[in-house]
Amino acid sequence: MCGIVAYIGEKQAYPILIKGLQRLEYRGYDSAGVALLNGSVKVFKKKGKVSELVYHASQQDTTGTIGIGHTRWATHGKPDDINAHPHTSGNGRLTLIHNGIIENYNAIKESLLNRGHEFRSQTDTEVLVHLIEEIQSQNNIPLEEAVRLALNQVIGAYAIVVMDANDPDKLVAARKSSPLVIGIGKGEFVIASDASPLVDYTKQVVYLNDNEIAVVHRNGELQIKTTNNELQDHKVQEINLQIEQLEKGDYEHFMLKEIYEQSKTIGDCMRGRLNASEGWVRVGGIEDSIEHFTNAKRIIIAACGTSWHAGLIAEYLFEELARIPVEVEYASELRYRNPIIKENDIVIALSQSGETADTLAALELAKDKGAMIYGIVNVVGSSIARVTDAGSYIHAGPEIGVASTKAFTSQVTLLAMMAITLGYRRGTIPKSYYHQLLEGLESIPAKVEKLLKLNDKIKYIASEIKDSSNALYLGRGYNFPIALEGALKLKEISYIHAEGYPAAEMKHGPIALIDEDMPVVVIATNKSSYEKIYSNIQEVKARKGVVIAIVPEGSTEISKIADYTIEIPDTEEPLTPLLSVIPLQLLSYHIALMRGCNVDQPRNLAKSVTVE
Ligand code: G6P
Repeated sequence: MCGIVAYIGEKQAYPILIKGLQRLEYRGYDSAGVALLNGSVKVFKKKGKVSELVYHASQQDTTGTIGIGHTRWATHGKPDDINAHPHTSGNGRLTLIHNGIIENYNAIKESLLNRGHEFRSQTDTEVLVHLIEEIQSQNNIPLEEAVRLALNQVIGAYAIVVMDANDPDKLVAARKSSPLVIGIGKGEFVIASDASPLVDYTKQVVYLNDNEIAVVHRNGELQIKTTNNELQDHKVQEINLQIEQLEKGDYEHFMLKEIYEQSKTIGDCMRGRLNASEGWVRVGGIEDSIEHFTNAKRIIIAACGTSWHAGLIAEYLFEELARIPVEVEYASELRYRNPIIKENDIVIALSQSGETADTLAALELAKDKGAMIYGIVNVVGSSIARVTDAGSYIHAGPEIGVASTKAFTSQVTLLAMMAITLGYRRGTIPKSYYHQLLEGLESIPAKVEKLLKLNDKIKYIASEIKDSSNALYLGRGYNFPIALEGALKLKEISYIHAEGYPAAEMKHGPIALIDEDMPVVVIATNKSSYEKIYSNIQEVKARKGVVIAIVPEGSTEISKIADYTIEIPDTEEPLTPLLSVIPLQLLSYHIALMRGCNVDQPRNLAKSVTVE
């Protein structure tokens, strides 16, 4: 949440900061701001999107070769011009951008107020910049030392960059529990919340660790110390990120691009890991800890949002195919409920961003309890990837639309490969079924491609139900999590209230809501429960509900009674979620678009939730 970017070098900072903020906008878009130093400090900030900031600053002097920028997802203080970052110290000397929450800011603010400080905003961030200023001016010490002493008084999470008007040749950055990456260019540094603002200038990066403070100098020097004042060695890494991956190309929205990319990204996730004709599947992270996995007494999966839905599918996959008991936990619940986690448990953190604060905290708790921790993430070099004992990347490439699509199908692909591997190694699936599943998985990308051709039909269905106020999604077995995911996709981008339910549970509540205004999306792709779900559809129709059924190719019974049907290509039942989710993503996309919603940046949401 919140994106930060900073530049020091020979180029003009403003265009670099703005482009960086546009790339980071998925992290929050309540307000945006920049501060530039060129003799004196100029701060421009504006409520709303980065485009509003650009308009606001268009007639102003934005020159300067050092600057900091921020795009905000509001926590303390409403989204407005004043609460927007950067924040300035009382004497105007320091400006600061911050991603995270200073939990003890009230106590610090109280004592600063007693000492005569005056605050303009309601933010925790302004308190921090005042504290640094006070320490700096009272002790007459370098900025980095003042930052270090201030951070020793702070409880909470932060990624910050501070600029000193009296020292135009350096920036000071620090992190704890919020990501920060330093791009090292030729005679320049770009610091940001993720690597996307840096790729135009460099591929050489240093990921800052928790409790580290970095000082970057205009002369190319980089120094890193801990908050305990110990000098740190830093490892320069090369990032593998292409500029085209960060752009929409010919698509109207990132979400649509990412939906269409799935036939490729699912294949990318399997590349080098699976070969059906040779009959093997190998997920590196598991192979390295195979004893642990084959002997595991229990797997606990911790995740949030869409990743949690992928985790729920994994429960069905691991239990059915590998016969390993699985618990799927909301990371935010797991971390605070004193769970029983034992040394021979495996805790898997599932996260697109690898930065979700609750998932990270749940993982740390599991580590403290001695469990093996395994990360399944998309963003290379992210915090979860760096704290886990072992793990796998899903290789979906940058996902920019706030509503997750391609990361979800890649997560499920990876989890399916893991379950098949373990089922085979533990002898819990017959050899013939093992081969069938490998072939099934390998043929998914082509089937996704085929499904995407139904876009026009799905668009038509969207136009028929777009004015609904509520929607119900029903599914069974492997497709119950898809009902949850379909409902989540619809509510997060179209603001239609939607609920996902196990189909049979409909009778215990949601059936009371069904009338002719209620679209009911039924995912009826499990052959094992086809008759049962057929009965559920009859129950909906008897109450005049509008049924949109996702059915296997050639299904005639349900097609006769449903108002609309979308056919998915035939596949093995455990793999059906990889197909049934695609029409639901498209349905939400078109409905949101027809309702005039901002598909890529839905209100109040952010893609990377780095606060609790
Ligand atoms: C936010 C995003 C969702 C995402 C969830 C978990 O809510 O908007 O798309 O599923 O966070 O994020 P993670 O990065 O941990 O998968």
